[in-house]
Amino acid sequence: MTSAQDIRPRQDELAAQAQYFSTSPNASFHSPSSHGSALTRTIPLPNAKHLKPFATEDIKVLLLENVNQTGRDILSQQGYQVEFLKSSLPEDQLIEKIRDVHVIGIRSKTKLSARVLKEAKNLIVIGCFCIGTNQVDLQYAADHGIAVFNSPFSNSRSVAELVIAEIIVLARQLGDRSNEMHAGTWNKVSNGCWEIRGKTLGIIGYGHIGAQLSVLAESMGLSVIFYDVVNLMALGSARQVDSMEAFLSEADFVSCHVPELPETKGMIGAKQFEQMKKGSYLINASRGTVVDIPALIDAMRSGKIAGAALDVYPNEPAGNGDYFNSELNSWGADLRSLKNLILSPHIGGSTEEAQSAIGVEVAQALTRYVNEGTTLGAVNLPEVALRSLTMDEPDHARVIYIHQNIPGVLRKVNEIIGDHNVDKQMTDSRGDVAYLMADISNVNTTQIKDLYTSLESLPSRIQTRILY
Ligand SMILES: NC(=O)c1ccc[n+]([C@@H]2O[C@H](COP(=O)([O-])OP(=O)(O)OC[C@H]3O[C@@H](n4cnc5c(N)ncnc54)[C@H](O)[C@@H]3O)[C@@H](O)[C@H]2O)c1
Repeated sequence: MTSAQDIRPRQDELAAQAQYFSTSPNASFHSPSSHGSALTRTIPLPNAKHLKPFATEDIKVLLLENVNQTGRDILSQQGYQVEFLKSSLPEDQLIEKIRDVHVIGIRSKTKLSARVLKEAKNLIVIGCFCIGTNQVDLQYAADHGIAVFNSPFSNSRSVAELVIAEIIVLARQLGDRSNEMHAGTWNKVSNGCWEIRGKTLGIIGYGHIGAQLSVLAESMGLSVIFYDVVNLMALGSARQVDSMEAFLSEADFVSCHVPELPETKGMIGAKQFEQMKKGSYLINASRGTVVDIPALIDAMRSGKIAGAALDVYPNEPAGNGDYFNSELNSWGADLRSLKNLILSPHIGGSTEEAQSAIGVEVAQALTRYVNEGTTLGAVNLPEVALRSLTMDEPDHARVIYIHQNIPGVLRKVNEIIGDHNVDKQMTDSRGDVAYLMADISNVNTTQIKDLYTSLESLPSRIQTRILY
């Protein structure tokens, strides 16, 4: 039985632990989409080695906040020791627990501050089973060689489906009819109610969500145009429009799917509403700052915009309750008084399917990181991957050296590993932290131990792992 430090042993334990520096290159690499990682696709090799690492049962995983069953299953199937808790923990209990674990999985409520992470001496990786990573001190984690993964794109389909629903509900004024019926009023009208067939949907931001939406919308008889800062391959019969003004003047429905950036702040304001068609509709399920809400209120009051759906807001409450009021956003009451306006509480990505997909995506990223050292998709470390070691390479080892990004490090590292045959090597940096991965052939256990000791003694070292 190995100790908990096996994957990041202390110098004085090296001799005893040399046999545990090993890897499990099971080759289920993430395949980033064209909108994802800049790294090229890493294709699993058919003869990839499926060795188990250092005794996997010694990898301790703590999962908090009711992480989805899909994620729990993947980690348990690796043989890791998985402790699962339904809730988050108060800080003192979290500190007690985190001291012992190599992997922690959280959602949005657990705060992994520098104070907490300082106690996490064995921790090598954090999985945020959600979209946001604000709850983690990413810089502290990077500075200490702790990778952080999240799941930004698992809910793209859920958002796209919500938007499809909103397009129909707006075109038929269904929200208003339903509200009237709830108040006991029968109001059978067809004036200003439309089919969506043959209308034009304009998508701003043709990324993960925009592209999904495009396919769904076309299948329902809408024509699709899109505007994006990048030239992109249109799906189906969709068409990219280069000028925002031309785009806005053509669309019956405008739906925003851009990230929150300085350039996207207020990108739909008074001028853009002017340029839109009279009687058109606006949908925003991207980020709250993208639409200038007072300008939207004016455009709806004047009749220029026939309806709108908002899922996101400049200020959003931290929890559920009666918080969507004028204290939160000064225009709250004006907005709520408008007709044919769908307001939803940032639920675009909130489905059971999205939770399940998040469980799979994050657990796989954690497993790849523990077993292979791959950082594809990490939010705080450079993205580095090498193709898998194969069954034909029994005496190979994978060196992972996380280090300070300072001049002269690579020379020193290569002096150490250069005595061996370096089959492949990749290094990249992100801010002050760099990540080097090298596969070395024909090495025995003693040489692996020496490599480890030499790399650990370099002043630039943040963390060394050798997997085989
Ligand atoms: N409502 C929800 O619950 C929910 C859920 C998931 C994502 N989102 C939000 O949806 C938005 C889109 O997410 P995604 O996963 O499709 O992102 P993505 O990164 O895959 O795509 C964004 C696209 O916007 C384009 N873009 C960037 N700046 C632009 C600009 N100034 N003008 C035009 N295009 C620009 C990019 O080139 C890219 O194609 C994000 O803001 C995200 O936070 C909301």
